[in-house]
Amino acid sequence: MSFKKYKENGINNAEKLAKSNELKDKMKTRRSVRKFAKTQFPVEIIENIISMAASAPSGANKEPWFFSIIKNADVKKKIRKAAEKEEKSFYTQRAPQSWLDDLNKFGTDWNKDFLEIAPYLIVVFKQIYDLDNGNKYKNYYVNESVGISCGFLLTAIHNAGLVALTHTPSPMGFLEKICNRPENERAYLLIPVGLPDIDARVPILKKKKFNEYCEII
Ligand SMILES: Cc1cc2nc3c(=O)[nH]c(=O)nc-3n(C[C@H](O)[C@H](O)[C@H](O)COP(=O)(O)O)c2cc1C
Repeated sequence: MSFKKYKENGINNAEKLAKSNELKDKMKTRRSVRKFAKTQFPVEIIENIISMAASAPSGANKEPWFFSIIKNADVKKKIRKAAEKEEKSFYTQRAPQSWLDDLNKFGTDWNKDFLEIAPYLIVVFKQIYDLDNGNKYKNYYVNESVGISCGFLLTAIHNAGLVALTHTPSPMGFLEKICNRPENERAYLLIPVGLPDIDARVPILKKKKFNEYCEII
């Protein structure tokens, strides 16, 4: 392994404070959106967003992720159909009442029309082990690594002026089949991305205050 000098960006404390405030304020306006406009935009924007996600740190640099960008209408339709099948059985049979009560304030149900309306769906896969020419190799901290990568992804989506929903139809195995992914991959998140519908509404949520989730020791 060879090394190179790390280039520090050299900004002063006042600039660091200003930058941290700017990004914090920007990210605080991010919301999960469930009603999308049909407005199209270039796929290069999504490619940039995914490049940022793939720049995340990962256990032993194994980069245990794969991203499928779905823009084909027939494939989106297939995904919607399969997701709604699972979600219907979740909402009407499998979900315990306490879970349904927790979801009540979001006004969600098994209907997932946004899976066809949003111009792009990003399916994130985690690689539970590495597969190279039929040989299996261990990946480390897969959930942590892919979770961090998805944090980068959602930040990049918001930064590009787009909106998304972090969606987890349960179970998600149908995505591996539809996207034709290899045996070492498991669907991790399904993220429709686009612009908000003109009538998009988001629930007014109470968020924890700083001293409820952080302390300085
Ligand atoms: C791991 C994860 C799974 C989620 N799954 C769903 C989902 O399947 N359907 C949905 O409508 N929202 C889903 N959400 C969105 C949350 O409901 C939302 O992030 C939360 O209510 C906070 O709202 P905000 O994102 O607007 O701040 C999920 C969020 C996360 C982080």
